[in-house]
Amino acid sequence: MASPTRNVLITGANGVLGHATARYFLERDASCQVHLGVRERRDQAEALVHEFAGRAHLCPLEVTQPEAWTQALAEIETRSGPLNVLVNNAGCHDDALLASMHLAQWRGVLEANLDAVFHGCQAVLRPMMAQRWGRIVNVASLSALHSPAGQTNYAAAKAGVLGLTQSLSKETARLGITVNAICPGHIEGALPVGWSEEQVKAIRRETPMRRFARPEEIAAVVFFLASPEASYMTGAALKLDGGLV
Ligand SMILES: NC(=O)c1ccc[n+]([C@@H]2O[C@H](COP(=O)([O-])OP(=O)(O)OC[C@H]3O[C@@H](n4cnc5c(N)ncnc54)[C@H](OP(=O)(O)O)[C@@H]3O)[C@@H](O)[C@H]2O)c1
Repeated sequence: MASPTRNVLITGANGVLGHATARYFLERDASCQVHLGVRERRDQAEALVHEFAGRAHLCPLEVTQPEAWTQALAEIETRSGPLNVLVNNAGCHDDALLASMHLAQWRGVLEANLDAVFHGCQAVLRPMMAQRWGRIVNVASLSALHSPAGQTNYAAAKAGVLGLTQSLSKETARLGITVNAICPGHIEGALPVGWSEEQVKAIRRETPMRRFARPEEIAAVVFFLASPEASYMTGAALKLDGGLV
């Protein structure tokens, strides 16, 4: 079978990892169309639209709203045909000890990191089933496997993403649609706000590779999971952590 032309949506594409992933697709697959999911900040995504005119497109998308997904998918289909690659990358954290965590902090993090993945997967299944080909890559976190104190909300949400990924992969396995997750550790340029120089040095020392991931090292794995070559790989949760866990 000929390789399908990839029509890709990356959520949170203005962020560090989303931007690096979009660039990776645009630079390495000259035939793909890349839709850059944005919410508030847009500067990085707009720069890609300018640099890759005609192949990179802004796609306003609040990932917690099912109606926003319906509208975004309709716009994508009009512009470049049905979507066949979804990278659920948008996410956030709002750390606190559970004893003092506000309900809004719990719900906000679950909505942005887990509910959003549910909405996204549900929105893209129909077009992918019609094409009998699709790739879904869910960006979880090492916190799903190795949960630090202060992240009960984020760890639960990202662990939920792994469960969703594995269960959905079984539902779509015979339809040509693969569903995988990645669990990155710390990413250079996207370290938690407020970390002291000492904390950064200590975590780097604990990491067997003695460094954090470059965003493009994570993007490369997303690119592979979204490729035709990754055809026998589904339901996986890949740890990308420089050997930390
Ligand atoms: N940084 C790390 O070390 C690390 C490690 C493991 C996993 N991750 C995961 O990797 C993904 C990307 O992280 P990053 O470090 O690149 O973060 P980032 O630079 O803060 O980017 C996050 C992106 O997600 C978007 N976003 C958040 N909530 C959204 C919502 N409700 N609707 C639409 N867009 C929303 C943000 O948009 P706005 O500009 O509108 O806020 C932003 O573009 C996240 O899922 C994160 O949990 C990161």
